[in-house]
Amino acid sequence: MTPKQQELVKKSFEKVRPKGTEIADLLYKKLFELEPKVAGLFRGDMKEQKEKLMRMLQIAVEGIDNHAELQPMLFNLGRIHHSYGIEGHQFMSFQESLLHALRTSLGTEFTPEVEDAWKAVYLYMATTMFNFPHHDEQVQVPHN
Ligand code: HEM
Repeated sequence: MTPKQQELVKKSFEKVRPKGTEIADLLYKKLFELEPKVAGLFRGDMKEQKEKLMRMLQIAVEGIDNHAELQPMLFNLGRIHHSYGIEGHQFMSFQESLLHALRTSLGTEFTPEVEDAWKAVYLYMATTMFNFPHHDEQVQVPHN
């Protein structure tokens, strides 16, 4: 992920952010087509979930050059997703859904260069989420 790619992602996110949760609407619609079983894992209000996703994407995109701050947040998010039982291949379907949503929303502005930049940023986010430190999950022996 190059500084140029970080800049392209920031700029394109600035264009879609004023459209509210449009990206999340498109993303989840596609995700539930690709992974119908995942839909049942969303227990809460989807409107709230879409806002949560948009906020998280905003934090990640704005902080993409601040690895030290972003990494613990992504580890935490990864830990939560691990507890839902989300698997590796589902992260690929999520990527496909995100790219579809961006392509639909940005139209001709979603150039191959912008697409590659989002792929690089998503790869960083997904791999960080996936590789949260599992040793934190060890059973704690109570002290007497
Ligand atoms: C970079 C990738 C992803 C991001 C940024 C992301 C973001 C989020 C956020 C912010 C939440 C809310 C967590 C909370 O309530 O504290 C969430 C929940 C959730 N996500 Fe993701 N997610 C990602 C990937 C995935 C993937 C790959 C799947 C499955 C295909 C998935 C399925 C879910 C489910 C089932 C929930 C729980 C909803 C509920 O509690 O009702 N997410 N995600």
